[in-house]
Amino acid sequence: MSQQVDQFKKLVAHCKEYGFIFQSSEIYDGLSAVYDYGPYGSELKNNIKNYWWRAMVQMHENITGIDAAIFMHPKTWKASGHVDAFNDPLVDNKDSKKRYRADQLVEGVIDKINEKAEKEVEKARKRFGESFDEALYRETNPRVSEYLKQALDIEKRLAQLMKDGDMAGLKALIEELEIADPESGSRNWTEVRQFNLMFSTQLGNIAGEEGKLYLRPETAQGIFVNFLNVQKSTRLKVPFGIAQIGKAFRNEIVARQFIFRMREFEQMEMQFFIRPGEEMKWYEYWKAARMKWHTALGTPPEMLRFKDHDNLAHYANAAVDIQFEFPFGFKELEGIHSRTDFDLKSHQELSGKKLQYFDTELNENYVPYVVETSVGCDRMFLALMSYALQEEAVPDAKGEDATRTVLRLHPALAPVKCAVLPLIRNKEELPEKAREIFNDLKQSFLCQYDDKDAIGRRYRRQDAIGTPFCVTVDFETIENNTVTLRERDSMVQERIPISEIEGIVRQRTDMKLLFS
Ligand code: GAP
Repeated sequence: MSQQVDQFKKLVAHCKEYGFIFQSSEIYDGLSAVYDYGPYGSELKNNIKNYWWRAMVQMHENITGIDAAIFMHPKTWKASGHVDAFNDPLVDNKDSKKRYRADQLVEGVIDKINEKAEKEVEKARKRFGESFDEALYRETNPRVSEYLKQALDIEKRLAQLMKDGDMAGLKALIEELEIADPESGSRNWTEVRQFNLMFSTQLGNIAGEEGKLYLRPETAQGIFVNFLNVQKSTRLKVPFGIAQIGKAFRNEIVARQFIFRMREFEQMEMQFFIRPGEEMKWYEYWKAARMKWHTALGTPPEMLRFKDHDNLAHYANAAVDIQFEFPFGFKELEGIHSRTDFDLKSHQELSGKKLQYFDTELNENYVPYVVETSVGCDRMFLALMSYALQEEAVPDAKGEDATRTVLRLHPALAPVKCAVLPLIRNKEELPEKAREIFNDLKQSFLCQYDDKDAIGRRYRRQDAIGTPFCVTVDFETIENNTVTLRERDSMVQERIPISEIEGIVRQRTDMKLLFS
């Protein structure tokens, strides 16, 4: 675990040092759970969004996109259930005055028990070597099976209490498990209370409750209220989808783990409108399609898994998370929800406007059902950085060159596609030629020109920001118009004519590679 903590600290430090992510308002000591994306971070984030948009909208004839406003009529949030039910259970420690999510305190206990079981399994793996049967060991070793049973039992009790909204029961569970404040060690807790996560603000010209506006906690509602506008203007037929990328805001009680849980974040959501009764077919379809989207990027499959919800949200009749193994364990990366006709029906009732679709094949009017896919752009960013950032030994190198930090992002997502480097800066013809090549390539993709420091250092800098190709201009270039093209992961260099650089880099960094 401490190795993973170290790895996570390195990741956060790398993001700052290399201009991916900065704490918001850092000069004023920062604003908790709010972050700014720097030069390379904003490029990577744009590429993630572009990959999602192209996979969802461009690759599906029956999915179209919108860009709805962040502010919506306040009744939207009454209809969606967010005013009444978008709550987290919070508890304060009376001694430290720190506030926690009660469910997360209990989850912390579950994680610790599971960790104990994993430690036993690891010890046994080392002891038994090749002949180790992990499944059998988990089932038959009394200590491991007792830990696993204990964790599952608490998990089930927590799920039931959350489902029933039983705050007194949650407080009793915290006391029974003797949970102490992680900072002060005190067990002096207040009652557990429900806390609504929506931020609110006031409309300029209307005072009081009437003028109360919410910052949207999910982008999905902008899609629901526009369902008929989009359907009528595009004449799409059910089944069809509406996709959107945009900011969402949640007043998270506990904001930890860098950009994993933020108060201002970005979602990439798609609502797929279908015939009632067909939701399970489409739910399975989107589960498979979304998992494929993740693995196409080269995400190790063992770092991804499905996890069914024990506790369904107020709008869902089936829900699953795609979890990713972050440095702090498997956590939700994306949600796939069968939302029934809950949202459209609620909006229909509260607005008094019909939100129905006439199905010409069935000769029938109905409120469509919806299957939703929802992935956080920032969590996706963190997932990519978590496995792409690697430290490795460089064969045949010595001293400080013996190891390198390399960001093995898929080339299609890499912030900078190609760096142009004159071998030596004070030989005029080399920088001149390199500039000429750079000025040509920058018309096709994001390139960098760099002539500072020794060539090895410049390669390392590009490795650290994930640049898949470096073009080096040397004396041979002047003689025969060829350059070396160095590939980031293998560090292999090939000699190619200048005229071929653009075609090769374009082909090897093309997003098309992710769709084939
Ligand atoms: N429309 C459904 C919905 O919003 P959700 O599971 O609450 O469902 C969807 O959120 C995704 O949004 C999550 O899987 C996660 O990737 C991202 N997300 C949610 N809350 C977040 C937060 N506070 N910070 C960063 N990302 C968040």
